[in-house]
Amino acid sequence: MVKQRNAINSLNPYIPGKPISEVQRELGLDRVIKLASNENPLGNSPAATKAVQDWALNMAIYPDGNSADLRAALSKKLGVAPDELLFGSGTDQILEIIAQTYINPGDKAIMGDPSFPRYESVVKVMDGEVVKVPLTEDYRLNLAEILRKIDSRTKIIWLCNPNNPTGTMIPAQEQRDFIEKVPDDVLIVLDEAYYEYAIGGDYPESIELLDEFPNLLVLRTFSKAYGLAGLRVGYAISNRDIIEYLNRVRGPFNTNTAAQMAALAALKDQDFIDKSIENNIKGKGFLYSSFEEMGLEYIPTHANFLMVRVNLSSTLVFKELLKKGVIIRSGDIYGMDDWIRVTIGTEEENELFIRALKEVIGDK
Ligand SMILES: Cc1ncc(COP(=O)(O)O)c(C=O)c1O
Repeated sequence: MVKQRNAINSLNPYIPGKPISEVQRELGLDRVIKLASNENPLGNSPAATKAVQDWALNMAIYPDGNSADLRAALSKKLGVAPDELLFGSGTDQILEIIAQTYINPGDKAIMGDPSFPRYESVVKVMDGEVVKVPLTEDYRLNLAEILRKIDSRTKIIWLCNPNNPTGTMIPAQEQRDFIEKVPDDVLIVLDEAYYEYAIGGDYPESIELLDEFPNLLVLRTFSKAYGLAGLRVGYAISNRDIIEYLNRVRGPFNTNTAAQMAALAALKDQDFIDKSIENNIKGKGFLYSSFEEMGLEYIPTHANFLMVRVNLSSTLVFKELLKKGVIIRSGDIYGMDDWIRVTIGTEEENELFIRALKEVIGDK
């Protein structure tokens, strides 16, 4: 047998959530709703669908490896130079590119616990070491403790803002104070996958910090509010030096044409984003009041998902909800055993979820 690299022994394959069709078939259910992966319950902009339909007539051609049209549109929208952007097959792929670019064996990366699990695997694959810092009592990233953990081997700090799975946010001033204290040979990755849902109030406009701090990289995605998760397109914004190094690692055609065209069309449809945000705000209000009525603790969220304490084993609640056609994430994956994470859905989906949750909790 061919021996795998040692680093691979410490990894587990990603266990995907069950697709709706499989759950329907296995449990003989007519209707199944998936509130497990923080996808946009309104789908995607019709303009993006049209762009993919047009592309489908021309599949024989390789993608533009430079994503030139999307790059031009996004650089204009964000007010950054075109060469301060890097595109990837989802931000997932950019996480890999970052680790491949910066992690030597034995280098450390610091992340919150719980936070987005991919931060861990991309570092371990590179023979790096992961330092996990538990969240504060109010489920926020513990920036003071993260600072204390920095040492001469630290190479990357992953800051998920808002944090997945807790939905909590680092306000602008706190983030700035933190960044000022981090040595400039440590890369700070600000993962803003849920940016469109979080903006406003105290949420940082991190792009404004890029000129001032040479060790910052911002990550955003078209998978969440833009509703293009199936196409895989995300991007990094950073200074030219960092982007240039990442580009040496990036595969030549890593962002496919359909993704580029759909993202370009979606970017121009602000109406769809506005509707998605409005739906999220309404849904959040409904879920908060339902949880309060049920006497359940929840974590106020800045994203399109939230965690609620069900006071029962989360795997049990997961299984029971599944039987009723509702797919959520159980908190045990994140070390929060009596919590579940639920994506905010449409009005109807939220109502179905609450009805099912009441039945499940009432039954136990
Ligand atoms: C915090 C965070 N970062 C990154 C991703 C990856 O998103 P994508 O690869 O679809 O851009 C996700 C997806 O769930 C996420 O929650």
